[in-house]
Amino acid sequence: MHNTQRKTNNLPPPFKTKVIERISLPSKEKRKQIIKDAGYNPFLIPARDVFIDLLSDSGTSALSKEQLSLSLLSDESFAYQNGYYTFIDAIEKIIGKEFITYPLHQGRGIEALLFKGFLKRGDIVVSNAVFETTAYHIEQTGAKIVNLPVDESKDEGSDFPFKANLNLGKLQDTLKKKMDNVAFIILMLTDNNKGGQPISLKNLEEISQISKKFKIPLIIDGARFAENAYLIKEREFPKLSIKSIAKRIFSAADIFYISAKKDVLSPAGAILGIRKGIDNKKLEEKILAQEGFITHGGLSDADLMIISQGFLESLDEKYLRYRISQVRRLYNMLNSENIPVIHPCGGNGVYIISSDILPDRNFPGYEIGSAVYIEGGVRGSVFGGKFTGGKEYFRLAIPRRAYFNEHIDYAGKIIIKTIKKGKFPHLQLKESPSALGNFLARFKMESQ
Ligand SMILES: Cc1ncc(COP(=O)(O)O)c(C=O)c1O
Repeated sequence: MHNTQRKTNNLPPPFKTKVIERISLPSKEKRKQIIKDAGYNPFLIPARDVFIDLLSDSGTSALSKEQLSLSLLSDESFAYQNGYYTFIDAIEKIIGKEFITYPLHQGRGIEALLFKGFLKRGDIVVSNAVFETTAYHIEQTGAKIVNLPVDESKDEGSDFPFKANLNLGKLQDTLKKKMDNVAFIILMLTDNNKGGQPISLKNLEEISQISKKFKIPLIIDGARFAENAYLIKEREFPKLSIKSIAKRIFSAADIFYISAKKDVLSPAGAILGIRKGIDNKKLEEKILAQEGFITHGGLSDADLMIISQGFLESLDEKYLRYRISQVRRLYNMLNSENIPVIHPCGGNGVYIISSDILPDRNFPGYEIGSAVYIEGGVRGSVFGGKFTGGKEYFRLAIPRRAYFNEHIDYAGKIIIKTIKKGKFPHLQLKESPSALGNFLARFKMESQ
């Protein structure tokens, strides 16, 4: 067991609350009807009917007073607006001047921009793991993804501290054998679909060296770069500052993109960085035609102000320590009751291995998710399983700065009670789109 992962920290939050949002719990009878109307898919429940919402850590953070006040200083001009300079300043403070950076409206928009037109049928993309939308945009071009994670990542019970690491031997072999077809290497920091696990700085910098040797570009999907940097500090380089780790993370890349809705503590937006010297003309043309002017990418200037400030706040060590300790709080509660979860605890949430709880069911995550919602109005999301392959997970993602530990404790108790009771609806698939089914599929009770 890694010595840091199973400590529950009762740290008070390094912030206090000024604005609140009321939440309420609909009656149990209503909850039964609400989940039925949502086709037993938590993604389709109206948010107003959720008491504790652990569906996603994306776009769900609380804003700071600095973010809000800066948004009022925005300048909604069409081009080279004030917020653009604030944005560039913030990026340069953390990452330096190695990249040309663009604000854009969402991470998946960047994926569409980068992959469509640049990848072709027969191309290979090497990765540690890719998020659902990333896989979608790569596969739409006819390219194939080859995931080469370290063996330890396949064992959910292993406490290996860096399960998002790439297997370097396999990477070199693949590049040697298929070099002409490998378009790029893309790394997800942290790996959102397998536990929020980090990549080590050593592994990342070695991948960067290998990518240079083979002249294959390295792309970093840094949606959760700050949590990854914190876990590197905790587990690998305690003496380095979080900021210096973050700088080294991005320095390893030729291209990086960050959905601003996760670690950057913003309700919207994304950041794209292209290493200076890489030809960016075609890309700028596409940004302009598809997204918006190159200094806003479809975002309002107020959004840009919020993102700039959120980017700086994301690396505050006190905040990160509190944030990760809150995720661990839930992990420890579930783990101590022998609920099967992915080990060790990652950065953004706790992943219940629903396939291990209900091994004979086709959609165990949806059955557990529905029962948890009915029990106490708590919502999580479902990943993997029949829609994307592998085991199905019921993910409890913790929004940043939004909930108190009392909320987390309540959610943990409801989840434990539901799983111990062992009464789950038996679901069968009613309808699903041809891709990304886990977000949009609808189910019905088997007897219906
Ligand atoms: C790792 C990762 N990459 C990319 C995305 C897509 O970003 P966005 O939600 O801004 O479109 C997500 C979204 O959840 C993600 O988790």
